[in-house]
Amino acid sequence: MDIINIGILTLSDRASSGIYEDKATCEVERVLSSYIKNQIIFHKELIADDYDEIVKKLIFLSDEKKCDFIVTSGGTGPALRDVTPEATEAVCDKMMPGFGELMRQESLKFVPTAILSRQSAGIRGKSFILNLPGNPKAIKECLEPVFPAIPYCIDLIGGAYIENNEDNIKIFRPKKK
Ligand code: MTE
Repeated sequence: MDIINIGILTLSDRASSGIYEDKATCEVERVLSSYIKNQIIFHKELIADDYDEIVKKLIFLSDEKKCDFIVTSGGTGPALRDVTPEATEAVCDKMMPGFGELMRQESLKFVPTAILSRQSAGIRGKSFILNLPGNPKAIKECLEPVFPAIPYCIDLIGGAYIENNEDNIKIFRPKKK
């Protein structure tokens, strides 16, 4: 089984300066560990909502750490400092708008304010980048509906081969390896 490199980039002015505890990073790690059967190497980064720093970290996780999958958490809303989708778009070769559309659609079943998230997804080289909102509760609410398509998406861009834990999540590959 391939080893999967996953970047978790958490964006929060308050969590990164210690005003409150970061609960998003470990929730992303927990959910993905329950979905994926392969050995995973997590590369975790917690920084402020700073456009240039987000761009730098995304490039580092993709180009240096060779992450197959990079999950960002936070900075997707309408506030002045929310710039994660813009930074994501700046580093991506192509955007994958279907992921944001499905996450918002499913999240509206939980909170009317799901419409405030501008979360998206995209491809940089062999890395698939997915934006999630910062609320720890939102992590699973958003990952669960879109995860079934992610292993095949990573196959198509030449990343590692993800095997799922059938008990926790079903995935779909139109063509098997
Ligand atoms: N999506 C889900 N599934 N669950 C949530 O609680 N919170 C919403 C939205 N999407 C939420 C959600 C709210 S209140 C906001 S402001 C936006 O995500 C943006 O959050 P962010 O700025 O932390 O990324």
